[in-house]
Amino acid sequence: MKFLVIGSGGREHCIAWKLLQDGSAKEVYVAPGNGGIALEYRIPLDPFDFESIANACIEKKIDAVIIGPEAPLVAGIVDYLTEKKIPTFGPTRHAAMLEGSKLYAKQIMGKYAVPTASYCEFKGRDKILSHIKSIKNFPIVIKLDGLAAGKGVCVATNRDEATKFIFENCSDDTDVFIEDYIEGEEASVLGICDGDTVLPFIAAQDHKRAFDGDQGPNTGGMGAYAPAPVITKDRLERVYNEILTPIVKGMKNEGYPFKGILYAGIIVKGDEIKVLEFNARFGDPEAQVLLPLLKNKLGALFESSINGSLKNFNLEFLPYHAITVVMASGGYPGSYEKGKIITGLDNLSPDILIFHAGTTQKDGHLITSGGRVLNVTACAESLLIARNKVYEEIKKINFDGAFYRKDIAHRALA
Ligand code: GLY
Repeated sequence: MKFLVIGSGGREHCIAWKLLQDGSAKEVYVAPGNGGIALEYRIPLDPFDFESIANACIEKKIDAVIIGPEAPLVAGIVDYLTEKKIPTFGPTRHAAMLEGSKLYAKQIMGKYAVPTASYCEFKGRDKILSHIKSIKNFPIVIKLDGLAAGKGVCVATNRDEATKFIFENCSDDTDVFIEDYIEGEEASVLGICDGDTVLPFIAAQDHKRAFDGDQGPNTGGMGAYAPAPVITKDRLERVYNEILTPIVKGMKNEGYPFKGILYAGIIVKGDEIKVLEFNARFGDPEAQVLLPLLKNKLGALFESSINGSLKNFNLEFLPYHAITVVMASGGYPGSYEKGKIITGLDNLSPDILIFHAGTTQKDGHLITSGGRVLNVTACAESLLIARNKVYEEIKKINFDGAFYRKDIAHRALA
């Protein structure tokens, strides 16, 4: 089969790699792709230019399109391509609102009794500011309703922080809400859905803060590992029964069946499991640790989601552990320089997987072109072995200003 993957991050490189590695695909194109994709398979297309994407599918005789990031999903790429009879993996525009509108997700969770923090919503800066004046107990969590590229959530530890976030992010018509702060350990549980059935993946854990010890600003994710032991077999069953299944049934009942990846960002404390957020696509960098452990052919899994036949699919994972560490540009997630030459990738052990993100080729060199640059990934029979392997190898890779967290998987290995 021939696939087209939409996106340019480590997640999309990993999807393309897996489709080729497991024999699902003869050819995989990526639009726009990154420096990890062979030039003849990169298509320089804007993920929002649906018409050009449909034309490229016809020209390249693409059998199925896989959508990586959330923004084109929320903009309706699946609806558009499906209308053109091009099989496409991912939720429709309305189903993707589970990620595109955090208030919509809250309403659906309320209606279908899915456990989440209680909240109150506001329209506009003045209303939320006057409410914040009356709050006595911090921290509180402030969330902007729409997509905000990872910058729409603030955990405010005092009134000044809350006020600053609101002044910086809210205008007179911003939809925003405050929810209770929940303590606990976070995990990402993804399920693949076909509108009726949901099959849960093993759990992963991301590391969102920039620096060791979970310090510093929030990022898109600085590393991940799977399986995450905080999600025991019992807890995974509860996530399936209490979260994923009610949402998939609920979305069907609403008239918007959910197909694609339903990503539940959850928090666990003792017997309590609650949803922090939903995403409507693979996590990045979670995909980079989940897909290398997938036993099934990824192409067949995508096909079963698109065709509505997941009920008969036996989803299986290898009994190994995977870890990925993100190498980032100095200054990320703030401003950073691009164009730094990357060296050392030729000297790595053959069992290390490199998924590119912010890289491109120029004048015969591989150079940096983004904040998150590379995902250095290892799999092994234990998490400790995988962790040691990845940190041994990552030292061989260099670019000016590079940094990475040294403590990925610290909770599982503590
Ligand atoms: N790793 C977090 C996300 O993909 O949203």
